[in-house]
Amino acid sequence: MEEAIELDSRYKTLKEEFSVPTFGSFGIPGDADTKTTYLCGNSLGLMPLAIRRAINDELDAWGERAVDSHFRHPGLDDGKTNWMDIDLPVIPLIKDIVGAQEDEVAIMGSLTANLNALMVAFYKPQGKRTKILFEKGSFPSDYYAIFNQLRLNSLDPQTDMIQMEPRKGEYTLRTQDIISQIESHSETLALVLLPGIQYYTGQLFDIEVITRVAKSHGIIIGWDLAHAVGNVPLKLHDWGVDFAVWCSYKYLNSGPGAISGIFVHSSHGTNEEDKYMPRLAGWWGNNASTRFKMMEFFDPIQGALGFRQSNPSVIDVVSVHASLKLFQEYGGIGKLREKSVALTRYLETLLKDSPYFNNTEYGFKILTPDDPEDRGAQLSLLFFPRTTDSTPGIMDDIHQFMTHRGVICDERRPDVIRIAPVPLYNTFQDVFHAVEVLNSAFDTKSPKSS
Ligand SMILES: *Cc1c(COP(=O)(O)O)cnc(C)c1O
Ligand SMILES: *[C@@H]1O[C@H](CO)[C@@H](O)[C@H](O)[C@H]1NC(C)=O
Ligand SMILES: *[C@@H]1O[C@H](CO)[C@@H](O)[C@H](O)[C@H]1NC(C)=O
Repeated sequence: MEEAIELDSRYKTLKEEFSVPTFGSFGIPGDADTKTTYLCGNSLGLMPLAIRRAINDELDAWGERAVDSHFRHPGLDDGKTNWMDIDLPVIPLIKDIVGAQEDEVAIMGSLTANLNALMVAFYKPQGKRTKILFEKGSFPSDYYAIFNQLRLNSLDPQTDMIQMEPRKGEYTLRTQDIISQIESHSETLALVLLPGIQYYTGQLFDIEVITRVAKSHGIIIGWDLAHAVGNVPLKLHDWGVDFAVWCSYKYLNSGPGAISGIFVHSSHGTNEEDKYMPRLAGWWGNNASTRFKMMEFFDPIQGALGFRQSNPSVIDVVSVHASLKLFQEYGGIGKLREKSVALTRYLETLLKDSPYFNNTEYGFKILTPDDPEDRGAQLSLLFFPRTTDSTPGIMDDIHQFMTHRGVICDERRPDVIRIAPVPLYNTFQDVFHAVEVLNSAFDTKSPKSS
């Protein structure tokens, strides 16, 4: 514990800016006021306290001026924004987090809806080039979206989906193997779609290299950054990524189902033809100066804003804004990543010191790559004994034991627990405590000790 305390003195935390569930609020027996150890930010980030005020201000505006707040917000002098342009102040904050130019990002929609919308715009099967390359074991929503995108184009998912999986006995994909797949299907691929960070294993893909290879073969490449945004620094513009989508409720801490965002590279929209690129369109993507003229002519804003369809949920947008301010307050994503690497390294070290580490009879393995370059905050643990058709594995018991002691992490049935120390609000002491509780879960449940 001394080491954890010492490490905490070296790295800033903004834990006091967040609402951390207590034993009492979470409904766990024990001292009601004790805070839980929340290591589940990969699933739902904690609530920034500032969001309550931000939402209340908009409720006030709605109550005080109703429709007029679109153009004459009562809080203008207080730094508030007319609802017309409510999403625009978020742009400078998010662009630094994803490494984009201002005209390459927009706040809109939700992750899967945006993925569907951008696939409609960017997936253009033609001649032999019809296939979509992605991973086996992708997040189901992404699978469903891809599957149906092919069907919408009257193509056969059986032949036009190419799914990559790790080599036998391995849990994560090798960059070289992904490159080989792209190269061997270079003539028939219309789209490569990958997660920045794999939700299950925590593997961080080499976005830069994979993007370069896809682009060199003239293949469109999109990234689902659900687990990467706000977790690792990104340079979407410099890497030449065609498009990307993400959500705001995981590492961006903006609230359950909060409005999400898109990236569209500025190389799209560089000529007249591109400007009118067919898409799922709506009035909010139209030039703001003519939007209310209600013309029968779609004049898209150049860049990502031209992909917006609807006027955004104001309450959602100000939540994202209040939350992203904390990234700025911390010193930016680069600074957060420094702490994150140390924090996850510390978790890994403690786990590897556990008597149960790498024990495939009664213990756990780490699925996530060892190299910090190949992962974000999260480590995924695989538990033994594993679940079989006739017997439940041990993971559920371990997870329940930890939860009852206030260590909140995320289970993926049948046999995996994901632990994500989030640098904005987690401490080295949180990590120390979590591993202590994990070890005592094994001690307690051990057939040997009972
Ligand atoms: C979290 C997550 C989603 C969730 O999609 P929503 O549209 O936000 O419900 C989809 N894909 C991936 C890879 C995710 O990690
Ligand atoms: C919107 O239209 C006006 C008038 O035609 C034009 O000057 C302006 O550049 C357009 N703005 C965008 C973002 O396209
Ligand atoms: C885990 O155990 C296997 C088999 O006993 C061994 O080959 C491997 O090196 C161990 N891995 C680690 C990371 O200790």
